Amino acid sequence: MKTKYKRQYNAVITGTGMYVPEKILDNKYFESIVDTTDEWIKTRTGIEERRILENGATSDMATKAVEDLLQNTGTNPEDIDAIIVATVTPDMFFPATACLVQDNIGAKKAWGFDLSAACSGFLYALQTGAGLIEGGQFKKVVVVGADKMSSIVDYTDRKTCIIFGDGAAAVLLEPSEDLSYGIHDSILVCDGSGRDKLFMEGGGSLNPPSHETVDKRMHYLFQDGKAVFKVAVQQMADVSAEILEKNGLTGDDIAYLVPHQANLRIIDATARRMGISSDKVMINIQKYGNTTAATIPLCLAEYHKDGKLKKGDKLVLAAFGGGYTFGSMLLTWGID
Ligand code: COA
Repeated sequence: MKTKYKRQYNAVITGTGMYVPEKILDNKYFESIVDTTDEWIKTRTGIEERRILENGATSDMATKAVEDLLQNTGTNPEDIDAIIVATVTPDMFFPATACLVQDNIGAKKAWGFDLSAACSGFLYALQTGAGLIEGGQFKKVVVVGADKMSSIVDYTDRKTCIIFGDGAAAVLLEPSEDLSYGIHDSILVCDGSGRDKLFMEGGGSLNPPSHETVDKRMHYLFQDGKAVFKVAVQQMADVSAEILEKNGLTGDDIAYLVPHQANLRIIDATARRMGISSDKVMINIQKYGNTTAATIPLCLAEYHKDGKLKKGDKLVLAAFGGGYTFGSMLLTWGID
């Protein structure tokens, strides 16, 4: 007989933390290094400035974001069970960035790992963390989205260098027996047919580092912007509309859409498709650009800090990124 799985716990976000580097690169700066204009960047992407980490690596930003989270929630690092870091710019291939964060914050009892899903990384990591909580074995899981995109961006390529920035943000997941709060549902997809549209081909086992890979600029991110735009605008909107339908909801039931911040035009199309007005869309792309795995948690942390989220708010998180990877998630905010 088929038995329907009934969850005992929901994973609830019980705290947020964030870190962005101090150094700001505005659009005017890009006018001085590539053939572009402030006007083009603003109208085509919505970006006005982005943050750049001058010294240090992704783990340093991730550590600061988690320290902010620990302070905001009054959490003892020794009580953390697991740390998941979503990133495509780990400090090194190994050890995992999560191990470095674990050591930096003194989370002596935690295990952890990195998760690579580009701009959908945080969504994938949040679902993974939720699974750990729902299983009942782990009580405090830290999920981080962190990327130092400036380490893989080619600052001679005007099509990509204007888009990306550096940043990190984190959330704490804990169990709730009240299933009306927390993560209810997600739709997560990967489609490797997009492998040649958004990638970094150098440095891995396919193209180990060599003089040739450096000469061919293979250690930089490559994006076929037009192709990615077309798929992103369709898939992020589809998957966001689908999670509403699947759960018998409409845009009116949603307090906020929390979209990956890649391009304001993609965000607008997603909101329109869901029937969500622009005042209910979390936006900070103008300040930070595309920070890859950090965009969604940065939105959550900022809106939370500014008191714009209230207990019971229904949120839809949505992302699209390299892989291709994409997805949406429905959750109810559980913090007073
Ligand atoms: N400044 C001025 N002109 C630029 C430019 C820049 N920074 N970058 C590109 N252009 C030019 C192009 O060379 C092209 O010129 P041409 O017509 O003479 O060839 C023209 O602008 C249009 O280029 P196009 O690539 O069609 O621009 P776009 O409107 O699609 O915007 C992106 C480019 C990258 C902003 C956009 O494609 C995009 O956001 N893509 C998806 C990003 C995304 O979602 N990624 C997934 C997650 S990371």
